[in-house]
Amino acid sequence: MTETTPLRELDVRTVDGCRVLSSPDLGYADGAEQRLYDIVQAASDLSSSSLELAEAATDWGTTYSLVPTRANVVRGLDLPPDAKVLEIGCGCGPITRYLGEQCAVVDSVEPMPARARVARARSRDLTSVEVFVGTLDDVPAVPTYDVVMVIGVLEYVGLGVLDADPYLTFLRQCHAVLKDGGTLVVAIENPLGVKYISGAVEDHTNRPFDSLEGYALQSPARTFPRQVLQGLLADSGFASEVLAAFPDYKLPRAVMNDTMFRASEQLAEGLPRFPSPDYLVPRLNLADEGLTWSTLVASGVAEHFANSFIALATKGSGPRCGRATATRCCSTPSVSPSTRCAARSGAAGTTCTWCVVPSIRSGPGPPVTTCPCGTPSPRPNLWSPAGISSRCSWRSRPAGRSCCGDGRTSSRTPSGPRWTSSRTTSSSLPATSWSPSTRSGATAGTTGTPCCCAASS
Ligand SMILES: C[S@@+](CC[C@H](N)C(=O)[O-])C[C@H]1O[C@@H](n2cnc3c(N)ncnc32)[C@H](O)[C@@H]1O
Repeated sequence: MTETTPLRELDVRTVDGCRVLSSPDLGYADGAEQRLYDIVQAASDLSSSSLELAEAATDWGTTYSLVPTRANVVRGLDLPPDAKVLEIGCGCGPITRYLGEQCAVVDSVEPMPARARVARARSRDLTSVEVFVGTLDDVPAVPTYDVVMVIGVLEYVGLGVLDADPYLTFLRQCHAVLKDGGTLVVAIENPLGVKYISGAVEDHTNRPFDSLEGYALQSPARTFPRQVLQGLLADSGFASEVLAAFPDYKLPRAVMNDTMFRASEQLAEGLPRFPSPDYLVPRLNLADEGLTWSTLVASGVAEHFANSFIALATKGSGPRCGRATATRCCSTPSVSPSTRCAARSGAAGTTCTWCVVPSIRSGPGPPVTTCPCGTPSPRPNLWSPAGISSRCSWRSRPAGRSCCGDGRTSSRTPSGPRWTSSRTTSSSLPATSWSPSTRSGATAGTTGTPCCCAASS
């Protein structure tokens, strides 16, 4: 496979290691760019799991681009090593770094030179990564890429307008640069997220209830309810699956698909921790987010109220890739984590707290039986909320065997009591006390059983 792309073949000048396609001047900056550049330039461990960088983060601006948890948004995906990836709006490069560690070719495009410069510095030792200053408009509309990543960017492309046109134009451009069978990954907040319902400020405007009120006031960005997002993707030529991310796509610790919601109400209720963190502005404490979530789960509508979505949108109507994972089909990769109904992956070599690898696939290949995160280290996780496990807490089990294999059983069965008043939110619940290992309803698969054991911190 040749490691070039039409974008790489453009004859453009280079500034700070970035190839300059255009000067879009979109005005996006969070003020942390210079500090991030200084930190990254001085760092010796630039990896996506770098504790050195995590420890250098001092505020939300630096945390957002430095902590390993950022890459969890794509860690659950099956990204083949030879994939060609286009990343639009790479910012200061935390996802770029992870993609560059995984895949042969990563073209990352960012309109803000100061941010592109940090992304370039973060991946300076990776030959797989090229960073460009520009936008998707500058990328030749040639079907080149196996995967296009749009992480926290779609909401900005229309500059806050409510009209669908700019978002459709953008998504159709993504479609044009993907190979047939390729996948567009879109991570974005949900305007109907349970944290917003319970009083958290909207992430882009810092105003409570802003997205629920349809962005009635001016906003630099807008997000989309699940069905609207899927409608935009369908109108752009994509078939999509939508995953729910908690506490959000920014620092995900739980990612759940629809099978998960249907398979186990207990998992859907218990995997997220509440309240979700307020990164910049404290919320109005108007409702208990955890109790609200429990009600939504019990009502069978919870997937519409996740705080963030990760949409996996596929181009083309050729032979489907089935539900296999880490396999190739139709000469393009399937990135859908179809064997994982939920995942909370720690960075390799660091903490791994949640890993669910249920055997729900019907495709070929042996059942996945190990945690995808590799060997966890005994180091505590420095950047996640308190109370997390220092080891893998979910793993698959042989059919017919005890889920945890250590004698632990669930204190909370399908017919058992719901959360008691002393445990008003799942975040206050010791993880060991709610293992659904005895719950047959949690079994989603045909070729095994879901992993369902919980471990304490
Ligand atoms: C919330 S940040 C996300 C950055 C990165 N994807 C990440 O997850 O760390 C949004 C980024 O999108 C960029 N952006 C804004 N409008 C854009 C557009 N129309 N096309 C491409 N990128 C855009 C901004 O400059 C900014 O770096």
